[in-house]
Amino acid sequence: MIQIEASILSADFGRLGEQARQAEAAGADAIQIDVMDGRFVPNITFGAGVVRAVRSNVEIPLDVHLMIVEPERHVSAFVDAGAGRLIVHQEACPHLHRVLQSIREHNIEAGVSINPGTPVEVLEEVLAMTDFIQIMTVNPGWGGQKFLESQLGKIRQLHDQLKKRKLNIPIAVDGGIGVTTAPQVVEVGATVLVAGSSIYNEEASVADNIAALRNSAEQ
Ligand code: DX5
Repeated sequence: MIQIEASILSADFGRLGEQARQAEAAGADAIQIDVMDGRFVPNITFGAGVVRAVRSNVEIPLDVHLMIVEPERHVSAFVDAGAGRLIVHQEACPHLHRVLQSIREHNIEAGVSINPGTPVEVLEEVLAMTDFIQIMTVNPGWGGQKFLESQLGKIRQLHDQLKKRKLNIPIAVDGGIGVTTAPQVVEVGATVLVAGSSIYNEEASVADNIAALRNSAEQ
């Protein structure tokens, strides 16, 4: 079953609660909240207060994508704000093993994300303690960027490795996911689609966009 996570990075920041509710009503499986600190990525976005505000508007899980340096310093704050899963970047964690341990000690799921320039092999030693792997299909920092087809081989490689090791870890993809690219990533093994600008835009309603995305992925 394909999961769709609505990334509020492309939502109307003046009505985030309403936009999150719209995604939930349209059948989104989770909301992904992109936290950016202006250091790990050039952009600055949300803190724990926004997570708390979204939490009070929807029942579906909140995946907090930490595109920040030293994410270990902020685990408790985001857990307290209502995160159901924290996704850290391997590139930001010299002690990734300890960070994932720390997240799990808070009784929530631990996810790890890798950028387009990072090989799957860096995850080798932490697969046993990872609940969720997110492959970036754009260079993180902004919504609305072009999907990087170069990442299709990486998704396939990870899928095959997890299958061989009998590890049932969901593979999420994030960046440029829409009705054209969704079938491509599903074909190579992705089961979680993180989408922002293909859900929140002027072309169609949130409900219609999510329906179209799900239909394209489940063709
Ligand atoms: C990194 C962000 C974005 C966002 C999705 O820049 O993580 O990838 O979630 O953005 P879209 O779906 O607009 O590419």
